[in-house]
Amino acid sequence: MTDPVSFLARGRIAIAVIDNPPVNALSHGVRAGLVEALARTAADPALEALVILCRGRTFCAGADVREFGRPFKDPQLGEVVARTEASAKPVIAALHGTALGGGLELALACHFRLAAPSTRLGLPEVKLGIIPGAAGTQRLPRLVPVRAALTMIAEGKDVSATEALKLGLVDAVVEGDLEQAAFDFAEAVLTERRPLRRTGELTPVLDDPGAFDEFTKSLAKKQRGFLAPLEAVKAVRLAYELPFPEGIRRENAMCMELLNGAQSKAQRHAFAIERDIARVPGLPADTPVRAIGRCAVVGSGVMGRGIAVCFANAGIPVTILAHRAESGAAALAAIGKIYAGLVGRGSLAQAEADRRLALITSTLDYPDLKNADLVVEAVAEDLSAKQAVFAQLGAVARAGAILSSNTSFLDLNALGQASGRPADVAGMHFFNPAQTMRLLELVRTPASSPEVVATLMKLGKLLGKVAVTVGAGEGFVANRMLSRRSREALFMLEEGAEPSQIDRVLTDFGFPLGPLAVQDLGGLDVVLATRRARFAQLSPRERSADLLEQLTAAGRLGQKNGKGWYRYDAERRPSPDPEVAQLIARHAAARGIAQRTLADAEVLERCLYAMINEGARLIEAGLVARPHEIDVIWLHGFGFPAYRGGPMYYADQVGLPTVHERLLHYAAQVGPEYFTPAPLLARLAGEGRGFYEPG
Ligand code: COA
Repeated sequence: MTDPVSFLARGRIAIAVIDNPPVNALSHGVRAGLVEALARTAADPALEALVILCRGRTFCAGADVREFGRPFKDPQLGEVVARTEASAKPVIAALHGTALGGGLELALACHFRLAAPSTRLGLPEVKLGIIPGAAGTQRLPRLVPVRAALTMIAEGKDVSATEALKLGLVDAVVEGDLEQAAFDFAEAVLTERRPLRRTGELTPVLDDPGAFDEFTKSLAKKQRGFLAPLEAVKAVRLAYELPFPEGIRRENAMCMELLNGAQSKAQRHAFAIERDIARVPGLPADTPVRAIGRCAVVGSGVMGRGIAVCFANAGIPVTILAHRAESGAAALAAIGKIYAGLVGRGSLAQAEADRRLALITSTLDYPDLKNADLVVEAVAEDLSAKQAVFAQLGAVARAGAILSSNTSFLDLNALGQASGRPADVAGMHFFNPAQTMRLLELVRTPASSPEVVATLMKLGKLLGKVAVTVGAGEGFVANRMLSRRSREALFMLEEGAEPSQIDRVLTDFGFPLGPLAVQDLGGLDVVLATRRARFAQLSPRERSADLLEQLTAAGRLGQKNGKGWYRYDAERRPSPDPEVAQLIARHAAARGIAQRTLADAEVLERCLYAMINEGARLIEAGLVARPHEIDVIWLHGFGFPAYRGGPMYYADQVGLPTVHERLLHYAAQVGPEYFTPAPLLARLAGEGRGFYEPG
């Protein structure tokens, strides 16, 4: 037998055991091993049934993504599943952990399926920009109602074992020893002479023909720009329209086309770098981590509350330090509302909400933080206020406690100094709303101890965040790059672009919201506060581009009061506001800036290339180790379209020579201080390389 699959016989039952860590992906060796197991079972008259199960933490979590992008070696998964279903002897899949993608396709081709109670089953291929390619789209609708099939295939949502049982996707949910249960089940199948149930031979019943149009419409909106979800709907429809063999042929062709397309490449890149960033360059994998059993948050505002909820959601007790009794009470009340909302929407059981709420307490006294293993400061963005907090924390926190700040741009070195224990200090930059946004920027200073960084990375994962380690420098990575895009948006408004043009160009590119609509959402007063904090670093033109000051002075605070860059109706739908257009026109006239029509291409290039150029500087300055960190931050923090892979990956696709040439063009047009190509970018462009192939 090949290595990753071993073959055992227990009486008349054969057992193929897949052992291909970490997630039992269906690599070539596994596929070959399964074919061999099927052949041995078929050939041995003493064997009457075959059980397929996996060692380790999970059943097969999919095709091996590392094999994508190269020709697949035979036997391919399509052949493996066809042989499985064709077996004359019953084949039983015993599932645990996750049965995803190709793993579920394998299970669907088995004649019977058992699952441990905690199993999750799904076809998440759309998240990699493809559709299932080993008959998943044709077999699943033969077992479950059309809506369930569409939800799983076109939206990539998984289901629990209990749901799978209800849907008819598994035959039994079994407690206890899975291998024994599968063995007993196989014995029962043989003793009772149960007929083989070949999924591909079932006739799919279209119980709700309207589902296709509904899904197509809603996906075109929810997954705007993504090709795979719509292709998935088409593929599922084929299951009802074509004979099975023709359906799987078409499905496979659609899958291969997507697999070779730019979107899937970018989405696979996104999947890979999201995992790569867990390995922080220069931080050995065996760096010790500190235990985090109890946390505290200093500050009871929106961020402090959201951060406390993150800890409680992960089962970690947390104390909020408020500066007044009323604000502590208000924070607890607001957190109660967050949980009530989740319960109301059906996303959380009341008992679980109560359990989490009970983990959150508030205090007014620093000494109450002395047992915390981690304290996150989330007070106003004011350096001296934060320094005062860190001085207090340095005095009361227990030795070895990690002292962290949620600051989005202030000097963490200064906070480390204020605490008197800079090695224990690192930034945890959460994004608003902290409890829902997945990005967590972990900011290390030169003094931060490797243990602290390793602990926070591990904690980030526990909190369900995508944690990215970056260095401490102005605006870190996220806000530094964002500020370059915002700057260009302001400049282009002065030059004659309308807010709606800038936002449309960026939403057409794939962002969920344009940069100005995002500012309206967050509040123009909030954006202005950040601008003021950075004012000393702004160029004369940036200082004079004081549109935010003018808008807020005119009472335009964004969505919260119904007017900002746009005017909002009662349903918060934006429309362009002539008042804003006039304000901008007056501003331009007063500054002597000639207004003109800007081409969409210019709007896009100036927004994106300003960011990308800054990204190159961040790499050069060592604030990030690689382009990976930047791309993950943009994918998870700012809705950069996954099918474009992140800004640095996108720049590579455009070609750095082109980006370089356009930067020079805008350096001449807008000003060298804004667009002079970063030396790294210029060098890579000159050498014909990309950020991801630095040589
Ligand atoms: N092929 C190859 N490697 C895979 C893989 C796959 N399909 N899925 C996960 N891995 C690897 C990861 O790259 C990671 O490797 P690393 O430790 O060297 O970085 C490791 O398995 C663990 O994955 P990770 O995602 O960090 O662990 P997790 O426990 O948080 O999640 C899964 C496990 C299976 C839920 C998650 O990895 C997942 O969703 N995988 C993709 C499933 C999928 O899309 N399948 C369809 C493919 S067609």
